[in-house]
Amino acid sequence: MSTTASYNDRVVRQFTVMTMVWGIVGMLVGVIIAAQLAFPLLNFDIPWLTYSRLRPLHTSAVIFAFGGCGLFATSYYVVQRTCHVSLFMPKLAAFTFWGWQAVVVAVAITYPLGITQAKEYAEPEWPIDILITLVWVAYAVVFFGTIAKRRIKHIYVANWFFGAFILTIAVLHIINNLAIPVSLWKSYPVYSGAVDAMVQWWYGHNAVGFFLTAGFLGMMYYFVPKQAERPIYSYRLSVVHFWSLIAVYMWAGPHHLHYSAVPDWAQSVGMVFSLILLAPSWGGMINGIMTLSGAWHKLRTDPVLRFMIVSLSFYGMSTFEGPMMSIKTVNSLSHFTDWTIGHVHSGALGWVALITMACVYHLFPKLFGTKQLYSLKLVEWHFWISTIGIVLYIAAMWIAGVMQGLMWRAVNDDGTLTYTFIESLNATYPFYYVRLLGGLLFLTGTLVMSWNLFMTWRQSTGIVPAPVLAPQAA
Ligand code: HEM
Ligand code: HEM
Repeated sequence: MSTTASYNDRVVRQFTVMTMVWGIVGMLVGVIIAAQLAFPLLNFDIPWLTYSRLRPLHTSAVIFAFGGCGLFATSYYVVQRTCHVSLFMPKLAAFTFWGWQAVVVAVAITYPLGITQAKEYAEPEWPIDILITLVWVAYAVVFFGTIAKRRIKHIYVANWFFGAFILTIAVLHIINNLAIPVSLWKSYPVYSGAVDAMVQWWYGHNAVGFFLTAGFLGMMYYFVPKQAERPIYSYRLSVVHFWSLIAVYMWAGPHHLHYSAVPDWAQSVGMVFSLILLAPSWGGMINGIMTLSGAWHKLRTDPVLRFMIVSLSFYGMSTFEGPMMSIKTVNSLSHFTDWTIGHVHSGALGWVALITMACVYHLFPKLFGTKQLYSLKLVEWHFWISTIGIVLYIAAMWIAGVMQGLMWRAVNDDGTLTYTFIESLNATYPFYYVRLLGGLLFLTGTLVMSWNLFMTWRQSTGIVPAPVLAPQAA
């Protein structure tokens, strides 16, 4: 290859912009459903606007559209830079962009119409599932094809995490969605009963492990050292981290099915593997945070780095909380309560959203040919607005969750329940108002970021294609 060849950043740019667009949409729907829980009148008795239809729209929009576009963008950027080659099959890469946007639009139309297969995080009906499979296979071909034609012998650890994420999601998506179609928009899963539940939560938990974790760890391993301008704290630890994380995650799914019809031993296996999972998770978090060792002062001046380190702290927090919640006796209190929602959003807002935003901040000036971001002061503002938003959101849900669990299990001397369900709901309302405020703040932060990026783009004097780096000496 000639040294004048350039990286294929067009598709990276497209995915980066759509990360922000879908981020705003998904979070806006999150704020709407938070408002509906606080003020049920906002359902307006209109079927396609009801909470039940908008809630899966929120989860799919934030996980697969916002998170997904962020993962496509960063993995395409990182694999090229670390392999010193341009993307394999650029037309196929372009197909992954347009195909993925088509999936998101199809989801945004079908869910409000009530067309779903009612499997959490896997709601799309079978025609959309087939499109997802095609896009995902194309993604795998582009990503692994680029690795195959690399000019650097070593495969940098970030690519291992991205690769594991791509392969695992393909397997999970296909197995969990095996169904028999009965019409264009209706199908029935091939599994039933406890087997269906097992397959669903094997999928659901690994969607957390591989979509919401492994891919974002790939981001961490590339962008934290880049932003800090220091090598990763321990490369050896990153390799141990990778293998232990992917080996353990697979077995933890039954912690979603405690006290259900799933065999008791399977529930215990899920619990034990979840407890073990604390070790690799914290190994990764420590590796990321300690990358700053000797350069902590940078946190004072670089708000983007602060985003990264705080996101890793939230990662540590939610991966401590998760194993605790998987203990059966703890789960008997937390399950069905808002504690789970608090846990989810400490991971989703604190870890997934913040690390994605940090990477977008890092990438934007590079992708659009500006020297720097329009305003670091606005990044500071964004940081504080969203951090306060997250804390309000998760603290409200933790208190509400523990309160609900305790109220539901309280019994009088004669064995009757102390509280009716409606009493526990009434007691929860104040916390729903606080969560709504937290969500609004987080959304505001995202809008501030988008404005800053828009103004950065306006400063662009023209995009200069980045030349492919020369191969390293072996
Ligand atoms: C060591 C790591 C983790 C473990 C062992 C763990 C464990 C758990 C447990 C026990 C539950 C409650 C299940 C229930 O009662 O139904 C749960 C729910 C959940 N967790 Fe985690 N968690 C971990 C990390 C994370 C992270 C980092 C995220 C997000 C980025 C996350 C996202 C979720 C989601 C989305 C749910 C809700 C699933 C649902 O019911 O819809 N978890 N987790
Ligand atoms: C402005 C920001 C956000 C707001 C206001 C918000 C609000 C909500 C609300 C009200 C629910 C339903 C809770 C319930 O079932 O009781 C929810 C569920 C959920 N959200 Fe968010 N959300 C936001 C951002 C995010 C982000 C960025 C992610 C992921 C990256 C995310 C992932 C989820 C997931 C996985 C669930 C399902 C939880 C479960 O079933 O246990 N959210 N969100």
